[in-house]
Amino acid sequence: MEESLLNVAELMELENSFLSRYYRKKGLVLVRGWGQYVWDVEGRMFLDCNTGYGVAFLGHCNERIVRAIVEQVQRLMTCAMTFYNDARARFLRNFSRLLPSRFGKVVIQNSGAEAVEVALKAARKITKKKAFLAFVGSFHGRTFGALSVTGNEKYRRPFEPLVPEVRFARFNVVHELDKVVTEDLAAVIVEPIQGEGGVNPATRDFLKELRRLTEERGVLLIFDEIQCGFGRTGYTWAFEYYGVEPDIFTVGKPLAGGLPIGVTVFRKDLGDVFEPGEHGSTFGGNPVVMAAAAAACELFIEDNVPEKVRQISEYIFKRLEETVTYSRYFLRLKGLGLMIGIELRQDAEPFVDKMIEHRVLALSAGKTTLRLLPPYLITRQDVDNYLIPALEKVLEVKR
Ligand SMILES: Cc1ncc(COP(=O)(O)O)c(C=O)c1O
Repeated sequence: MEESLLNVAELMELENSFLSRYYRKKGLVLVRGWGQYVWDVEGRMFLDCNTGYGVAFLGHCNERIVRAIVEQVQRLMTCAMTFYNDARARFLRNFSRLLPSRFGKVVIQNSGAEAVEVALKAARKITKKKAFLAFVGSFHGRTFGALSVTGNEKYRRPFEPLVPEVRFARFNVVHELDKVVTEDLAAVIVEPIQGEGGVNPATRDFLKELRRLTEERGVLLIFDEIQCGFGRTGYTWAFEYYGVEPDIFTVGKPLAGGLPIGVTVFRKDLGDVFEPGEHGSTFGGNPVVMAAAAAACELFIEDNVPEKVRQISEYIFKRLEETVTYSRYFLRLKGLGLMIGIELRQDAEPFVDKMIEHRVLALSAGKTTLRLLPPYLITRQDVDNYLIPALEKVLEVKR
């Protein structure tokens, strides 16, 4: 057993008895990660297609990111936003290299939900209008604003009343858009690929029509790229795949290589958006996170992450076609790049549990989709030796 201050029973008991039960636990204690693998306290290795809800997309404990963090931790761990900071400037320089030319200013936060909050606040501020349109099946986070535009009753109902003047329309139903994209909206918020809702890609026609109508009616278009952005789809931003640019978009999860971050990006001509004092965050733009994110962006560019994603994704989808489609539980394959959904005929969560027994960590999405969010480092050998055999077993593939 790996060295640990507490034995397994003790540490599970501490989490079970002391931590509010807002997550259903799996019986696994993870203590170490490297690249596309994680190890549990017993020393067992797992192929990680869960990546902490998509965070470890650049791999666990990426050497370059670790080095950047360690160097920064030894120099300066916190720095108020009222002062300039070298790590923050490095991040901004590197991140700006990933942005299409129409985008300018950014606001830096500590999580995806906060980045969504900023987008919503900014939309009201810019347009001086109040209403929002979001979509059924969407997920934008757990804070009040982000939850208010999340199209899932299960998450919303216990906390109502939420932010008023939020309407929902059906995702990917193009002919309804003309009726619901009204001039009184401050913004429409949409995930180009719904993640938590079931790995549901928008259609190109849907996003194009949304863009056309929002432009025509003076409504801002917000893309939530917290799960699908930063290379996950095989494109730096999912909107590049669709050929549709939003006015505002949000980024989170893998951007700081594993540390907490959320960034809201604004079209250049929207200017500064906030006046000093109108928004803020004690930890947002923290130098350690900034050093990690600066290194993550460098790595992203130098290693041509989107290209690598496209290559391995093609292989994974081909192997999935050859195998899981023969399962009696199988309904359809969905997704783009390394955001992969296997829709089943029944609840996916028991299959996620069984995958653990076969040393692969996965996720569910919606109710019936088995979701895979592997790191871009996943190899053909990982796919052939771990992922496909595990799926064949748990989905009882018979040919
Ligand atoms: C599309 C999307 N938006 C927002 C969020 C919320 O991000 P966070 O959990 O970092 O607050 C998530 C998290 O899963 C997400 O997938």
